[in-house]
Amino acid sequence: MRIPGTPLPSSSSVMHTANVLVIGADARSMGLIREAIGAEAVLPNAAAAFTDAAAVARKNRPNVVIASFDAEHEEALRIAAQIRADLPKVVLVAIARKTDPDRMRAAMRAGYSEFIVLPEDGEALRKAVHGAVFTDAHDDDAGQMVTVWGAKGGVGSTFVSVNLAGELSPVQRVCVLDMDFSMGDVAAMLDIEPQNTMADVFKNLSRLDERTLNGQVAIHSSKIHVLAQPKTLENREEPRSDAVMKLLTTVSKSYQYVVLDCGSRVDDAALTAATVADRLLLVTTPDVLSVKNAWRRLQLLERLGVEKSRISLVLNRVDRKNLMLSVPDIELNLGRRVDAQVSEDRLAMKAVNDGKLVRDVDRRCQVARDLEALTGLVTNGEVIHEKAPSGNIFTSIFKRGG
Ligand SMILES: Nc1ncnc2c1ncn2[C@@H]1O[C@H](COP(=O)(O)OP(=O)(O)O)[C@@H](O)[C@H]1O
Ligand SMILES: [Mg+2]
Repeated sequence: MRIPGTPLPSSSSVMHTANVLVIGADARSMGLIREAIGAEAVLPNAAAAFTDAAAVARKNRPNVVIASFDAEHEEALRIAAQIRADLPKVVLVAIARKTDPDRMRAAMRAGYSEFIVLPEDGEALRKAVHGAVFTDAHDDDAGQMVTVWGAKGGVGSTFVSVNLAGELSPVQRVCVLDMDFSMGDVAAMLDIEPQNTMADVFKNLSRLDERTLNGQVAIHSSKIHVLAQPKTLENREEPRSDAVMKLLTTVSKSYQYVVLDCGSRVDDAALTAATVADRLLLVTTPDVLSVKNAWRRLQLLERLGVEKSRISLVLNRVDRKNLMLSVPDIELNLGRRVDAQVSEDRLAMKAVNDGKLVRDVDRRCQVARDLEALTGLVTNGEVIHEKAPSGNIFTSIFKRGG
């Protein structure tokens, strides 16, 4: 079968085969692996045990490691770090007999680039192995993934996403992905009518690569690229984590920054985007319900293993003269600092209603300056947070009818 868009190397010959190490797979899985990639890879007769895997990897220096997540998934998670320490460029592929979003996200966190269900996704395994041999570019090439997640609906997730992208777009290649599969407002907020949408992309996901992606995105006058949600909610489908992962991997290769507007939902798309984000902007407004929901999300992110250092808390719609909750109150209750504040401003509402970026309405207004400062969270790399205070941190907010 043709692999669309996979360039053949110009100098090297097509005789290349991958050197594959398989770990923890039983005889049946070995058979399925052989069926999928026997033609492209040098495969061992049997899988290595998890206990021996690190030593075998050090000796054989494989370019692809396939680990089974069926019986010993904890071991499969553990071994990833060991192998990557020795072989930073290795491609790690998780295989399993059935799909499991939690396990899949844990695998992604551990450094696996694919989670493949066999025999259904044999073709995906073949492509992963093929890609490992024929592309030099892996993670080093991937753009920064910025996930924007609202504590609850209406706090400004889309507003922050498009204006952040607007700040970056003059000098960086930026794509905004509208990951809000029920409320997608990115196209409306930028006043564009894309020909193709997220629905088209997911329909043809098996053919998605950097080239076909180019034909799917809409381009705003600010040079922001956009993959929007369809206008109507008919035939709405929510993608599974593995499909989202495939989309994100492809998009991140094409852009320096990928901004994911996840709205406020807790679904597979948002959880996957949160898991793989280089920086996660959790947006809340300074009111009890939003802050309470921000707290819930912080708890969930901790359970998912998303490091605190990758999360930034953004307080939007801050009216300094009329704050329902003060910033110190919010910080106390959330057990962490507020990293950026964006003022409440009628100009923001005007920009949204006119389908414009704030900086195109008034580049010098307070909210434009706030958005510029917020962009620093994404461009400056590491942000170190204080440790959360211990104790029952939610007493003051929850006491008030939460
Ligand atoms: N800083 C702000 N100042 C004033 N209004 C704002 C601000 N941020 C957002 N809004 C208003 O809030 C509304 C909801 O924002 P939106 O980004 O669509 O929320 P979400 O995507 O989280 O549901 C927008 O229509 C806009 O009018
Ligand atoms: Mg929105």
